[in-house]
Amino acid sequence: MSKPVTNRREFLGTVGAMGTASVLAGTLGSVTGFAAEPKEKLAIDGGKPVRENGLHYAPYGPQFFDDTEKNELIEVLESKSPFRWRGDESKVLKFEKAYSEHIGVKHALGVTSGTTALYTAVAALEIGPGDEVILPAWTWYADYDAIVLSGALPVFAEIDNSFAIDPKDIEARITPRTKAIIACHLQGTPADMDAIMAIARKHNVKVLEDCAQCCGGRYKGKFVGTIGDIGINSFQLSKTITAGEGGAVVTNDPKLFERAIRFHDVGVIRSPYSEALNGGILAAFAACNFRMNEFTGAVLFGQVQKLGEICKRLRANYRKVRDGIADLPGLKLRKTPDVEGDLGVGVFIDFGTRARRDRYIRAMNAEGVAASGPGGSAVLPADERIEKKSTIHPDWPTFNTPQGKAIKYGAESCPKTINYLDRHAGVIMDPNFDENDLQDIIKAIRKVYTAMGSA
Ligand SMILES: Cc1ncc(COP(=O)(O)O)c(C=O)c1O
Repeated sequence: MSKPVTNRREFLGTVGAMGTASVLAGTLGSVTGFAAEPKEKLAIDGGKPVRENGLHYAPYGPQFFDDTEKNELIEVLESKSPFRWRGDESKVLKFEKAYSEHIGVKHALGVTSGTTALYTAVAALEIGPGDEVILPAWTWYADYDAIVLSGALPVFAEIDNSFAIDPKDIEARITPRTKAIIACHLQGTPADMDAIMAIARKHNVKVLEDCAQCCGGRYKGKFVGTIGDIGINSFQLSKTITAGEGGAVVTNDPKLFERAIRFHDVGVIRSPYSEALNGGILAAFAACNFRMNEFTGAVLFGQVQKLGEICKRLRANYRKVRDGIADLPGLKLRKTPDVEGDLGVGVFIDFGTRARRDRYIRAMNAEGVAASGPGGSAVLPADERIEKKSTIHPDWPTFNTPQGKAIKYGAESCPKTINYLDRHAGVIMDPNFDENDLQDIIKAIRKVYTAMGSA
């Protein structure tokens, strides 16, 4: 933090002294094409940037690595026993217990990634050929691939301005073949679970919560992942806590848990889960090996102890920035169905059009405060391989049913999704941003937003 802090009060004082009109006129340069005013000139117009050396978030979890993870890892090395099934000493087991207690769910199972957690959850729900699964048009590839690789048919619904599936667009897509809805909590914001659960219960379909981008997020007092029938998480580098890779499946349903255990471990159920589930009630079935190893378990056991702190800091920083810009005229923030439970990953603003949004991003980056459009996911129906319905074998069941042949993907199938994404830009928060960082973010947003005006 080498540069002197300009707090919001001082900044507002400057704006007040100059008069709003001159600030507006003075900062419109290449942002909107009007003449520039030297004092509050935007950096993009050659003015002094808010932040000389640039401000950018870093992956969250590794910032909190310390002796906890190190000592856990050393214990695994010294044990010479990095395979998870090693009784009560298992680091994976310890992580599973700590994580399930933290989020308040009966069962948690560690797996190798968020992707394999999705495959496991889909298998646990007995989703397969002939079934349909509704998912948002904006999410990560793994949600779509898990459905296709089960043989079922992915049916996309539009998102709303929370970037999550729009509950209003789900019901029209439900058919007698719908087996499940995947609710994804994206870029830290919970999906509207009350509305999603009401539709699911009405139509007797299951709900899979994808919490990969919202680990530690809550919805109306409950942790995401504990509201639907089953949930998944990812511990890949860009997630709230991480071991580089890793994933988890969570559920309160013992039968779904048993199916998940069996699917992730060659169809069997081993100690201590065989005792915990009284040997289980199901027979073995064709399955995979998605077992988490002890090194990953060790790091995640350390990381889960920091989850609460990371989330607390993120939320506090997010709240400060939101409060610091709340009075901007006409400000439209990304919707969140639970502002307290929202992880606070990004402060996103709706600019109404793509052109204005892009101008904001360019101007913010010139000010030295990184801003970007919504990230971490893709508009899946517009992706070439999805539009072409490419699979691993020409006779793959997904697209060989009448419904599979008839379904059309492509950008034209999700215009609202594309429109919402195009209009928003945000600054991604970091749990370790300090007061100076937050004031610079607030200053840059206010400066650029004010310069852009409302048109
Ligand atoms: C929403 C969502 N689901 C699933 C995944 C897959 O997780 P992983 O990368 O651990 O396989 C990701 C990864 O970014 C994701 O963002």
